[in-house]
Amino acid sequence: MTIAPHRLPELLQAMPKAELHIHIEGSLEPELIFALAQRNGVALSYPSVEALRAAYAFTDLQTFLDIYYAGASVLLKEEDFHDMAWAYLTKAAAENVLHTELFFDPQTHTDRGVPFEVVIKGLDRACRRAKAELGVSATLIMCFLRHLSEEAALKTLEEALPWRDLIVGVGLDSSERGHPPEKFAQVFARCRELGLHVVAHAGEEGPPAYIISALDVLKVERIDHGVRCVEDTALVQRLVKEAMPLTVCPLSNVKLCVFSTLDQHNLKSMLEMGLKVTINSDDPAYFGGYLNQNYLETFAALSLDATAAYTLARNSFEASFASNEDKAGWIAKLDKTFERFAA
Ligand code: HPA
Ligand code: ZN
Repeated sequence: MTIAPHRLPELLQAMPKAELHIHIEGSLEPELIFALAQRNGVALSYPSVEALRAAYAFTDLQTFLDIYYAGASVLLKEEDFHDMAWAYLTKAAAENVLHTELFFDPQTHTDRGVPFEVVIKGLDRACRRAKAELGVSATLIMCFLRHLSEEAALKTLEEALPWRDLIVGVGLDSSERGHPPEKFAQVFARCRELGLHVVAHAGEEGPPAYIISALDVLKVERIDHGVRCVEDTALVQRLVKEAMPLTVCPLSNVKLCVFSTLDQHNLKSMLEMGLKVTINSDDPAYFGGYLNQNYLETFAALSLDATAAYTLARNSFEASFASNEDKAGWIAKLDKTFERFAA
């Protein structure tokens, strides 16, 4: 692909793309946390926006999750969920994100007494508004918290049933170590029967065995993170053969110390192995950047080129749960952008 290297940053920002691994609660910026805390009369344990931001120095997944769940405590009303998602979706539109599949964690809210209905109605309204006003396609993936029991996940699924049509799929997130995918075998089987798409976080901090059980037991259609797959050659071969999408989150991985620096990240070697990698932001308000920042910094740190940009953007559409017609339309736009930059 003959695109002048100096135009690569511009191309990365301009190219149409999808985001498939974004926890909407992880898009809550400190400013919005403080605004919502004030609106709802919620007390925060940090005196200022600056003090909160200064606390974003994580050593692993758990140190992040403790602050992330505390931040979500300001979300009480339907309007709050709408405002949070709308803030993300307007940023996504500005970054040429044409499609996004938003993770949300209902248990983080229902366990505080916020009704499921309040959460889903607020998020769904923002998604509909994004389509109408921004031309961004946005769907919802409900995640089960893996540090809680499978019974709790089954109860959450029951609560979601009246809203089934507003959810495209389910996922599995929160503390990975000690909570293997197979703990959720029954609830995922039930979700598959309901026709929901299924994904799971695996191989972020957890071992390759968790990726294998996510595939074999949960029968997932994408692996979220999955960067530790490279420790198991047979697993890599299988993921390549099955063209299993991996939603990799480079800035997240550095912030949570999965890799010490971005130039140590294995994304480039994963691409070279033929793995179906995508780039995502995970929790952009906490990890130092939204989707384009992830692309820009990763490309600079790993000396990736325009061919990699095309592959990653195309993978993001192909790996989505959108219709084949939508995917084809978005890929045609992607092709046009590359033609324009090659000219
Ligand atoms: N991993 C697991 N659970 C999460 C994450 C993550 O990166 N972000 C929000 N919940
Ligand atoms: Zn995640």
